[in-house]
Amino acid sequence: MSASADPRLAVDFCGLDFQTPLVLLSGCVGFGEEYTRVEGFSNRDAGAVCLKGTTGAPRPGNPPHRVFETPGGLLNAIGLQNPGVDRVVDEILPTLDFSETRFIANVSGSTLEEYEQVTRRFDDSPIDAIEINISCPNVREGGVAFGNDPEMSARVVEVCRRATDKPLITKLSPNQTDIAANARRCIEAGTDAFSVINTLMGMAIDIESRTPVLGNDQGGLSGPAIKPVALLKVHQVYQVARPHGIPIIGQGGVTCAEDAIEFLIAGATAVGVGTALFYDPLVCRRINQGILDYLDRHGLARVGQITGSLRLNRASTAGCVC
Ligand SMILES: Cc1cc2nc3c(=O)[nH]c(=O)nc-3n(C[C@H](O)[C@H](O)[C@H](O)COP(=O)(O)O)c2cc1C
Repeated sequence: MSASADPRLAVDFCGLDFQTPLVLLSGCVGFGEEYTRVEGFSNRDAGAVCLKGTTGAPRPGNPPHRVFETPGGLLNAIGLQNPGVDRVVDEILPTLDFSETRFIANVSGSTLEEYEQVTRRFDDSPIDAIEINISCPNVREGGVAFGNDPEMSARVVEVCRRATDKPLITKLSPNQTDIAANARRCIEAGTDAFSVINTLMGMAIDIESRTPVLGNDQGGLSGPAIKPVALLKVHQVYQVARPHGIPIIGQGGVTCAEDAIEFLIAGATAVGVGTALFYDPLVCRRINQGILDYLDRHGLARVGQITGSLRLNRASTAGCVC
């Protein structure tokens, strides 16, 4: 039996049955087919696959360079390149094998109306759940401009909530002062779940030309460099989400089972894998097996028992760290 078929790895996420707690992250797997040509890769090793960010009209994305490797991380400024929601629903979704895994749409927009329109279009499709990206740092309008303001975040959630009965997952930005306050407003506005976190804003500079390396000047940092930030944000959002039974997809820099287990302990129900897929498309197999080994070593019957099991050293993590 492959690790992903082991029932101890199964989790319930907003009523969806994930066969493992792993989620392939938006922007890192195209529209669900990207790695299926790689020998040994299977979408069945993931509980869910998040499709690339989708807008109302097609978007060509940003000018090059769009990605740049940094120590321990990856800067990207793709600019939400996508063929538009109609093509995704009419031409791409029918090609996906829904028996392999759950598929999650990732919705972006420049206006509230666009978020609502794209969500409504996905509502009338076989997609399993809808993630709203209010935290994209790579577009000039919308994206992180919505996500860094709790009131605007809540308004996006409200309009999307009206447009769908499918599970609604709000993807929170780490580029804000108080992520817990934002999460609270999104819960009031009707979100069913959270993704925590999107990329951190960053820049790289070419010292010869004295220009930013990325065509968009700034981009989003992902990969191992952001993992400690992501863990703290998951812990903070979990405090707010737990009383409402609202689950979290923890993400940011996961490359191995130990990373994934840290996110589960911090409060995540599911764990996202993104940048790591670029250098090891088969990484999910190892992570699933590593989680099973951990369950054995700790005498646990299922992965859900790890979620939120953090034992703090202090009553509050908000103390002075200097
Ligand atoms: C090249 C690239 C493209 C991305 N595109 C999107 C996107 O379209 N929508 C979105 O919500 N997040 C997008 N992300 C963010 C990832 O889904 C994820 O939240 C982030 O990279 C942190 O996880 P990681 O460190 O495991 O990659 C993108 C990330 C990368 C590296």
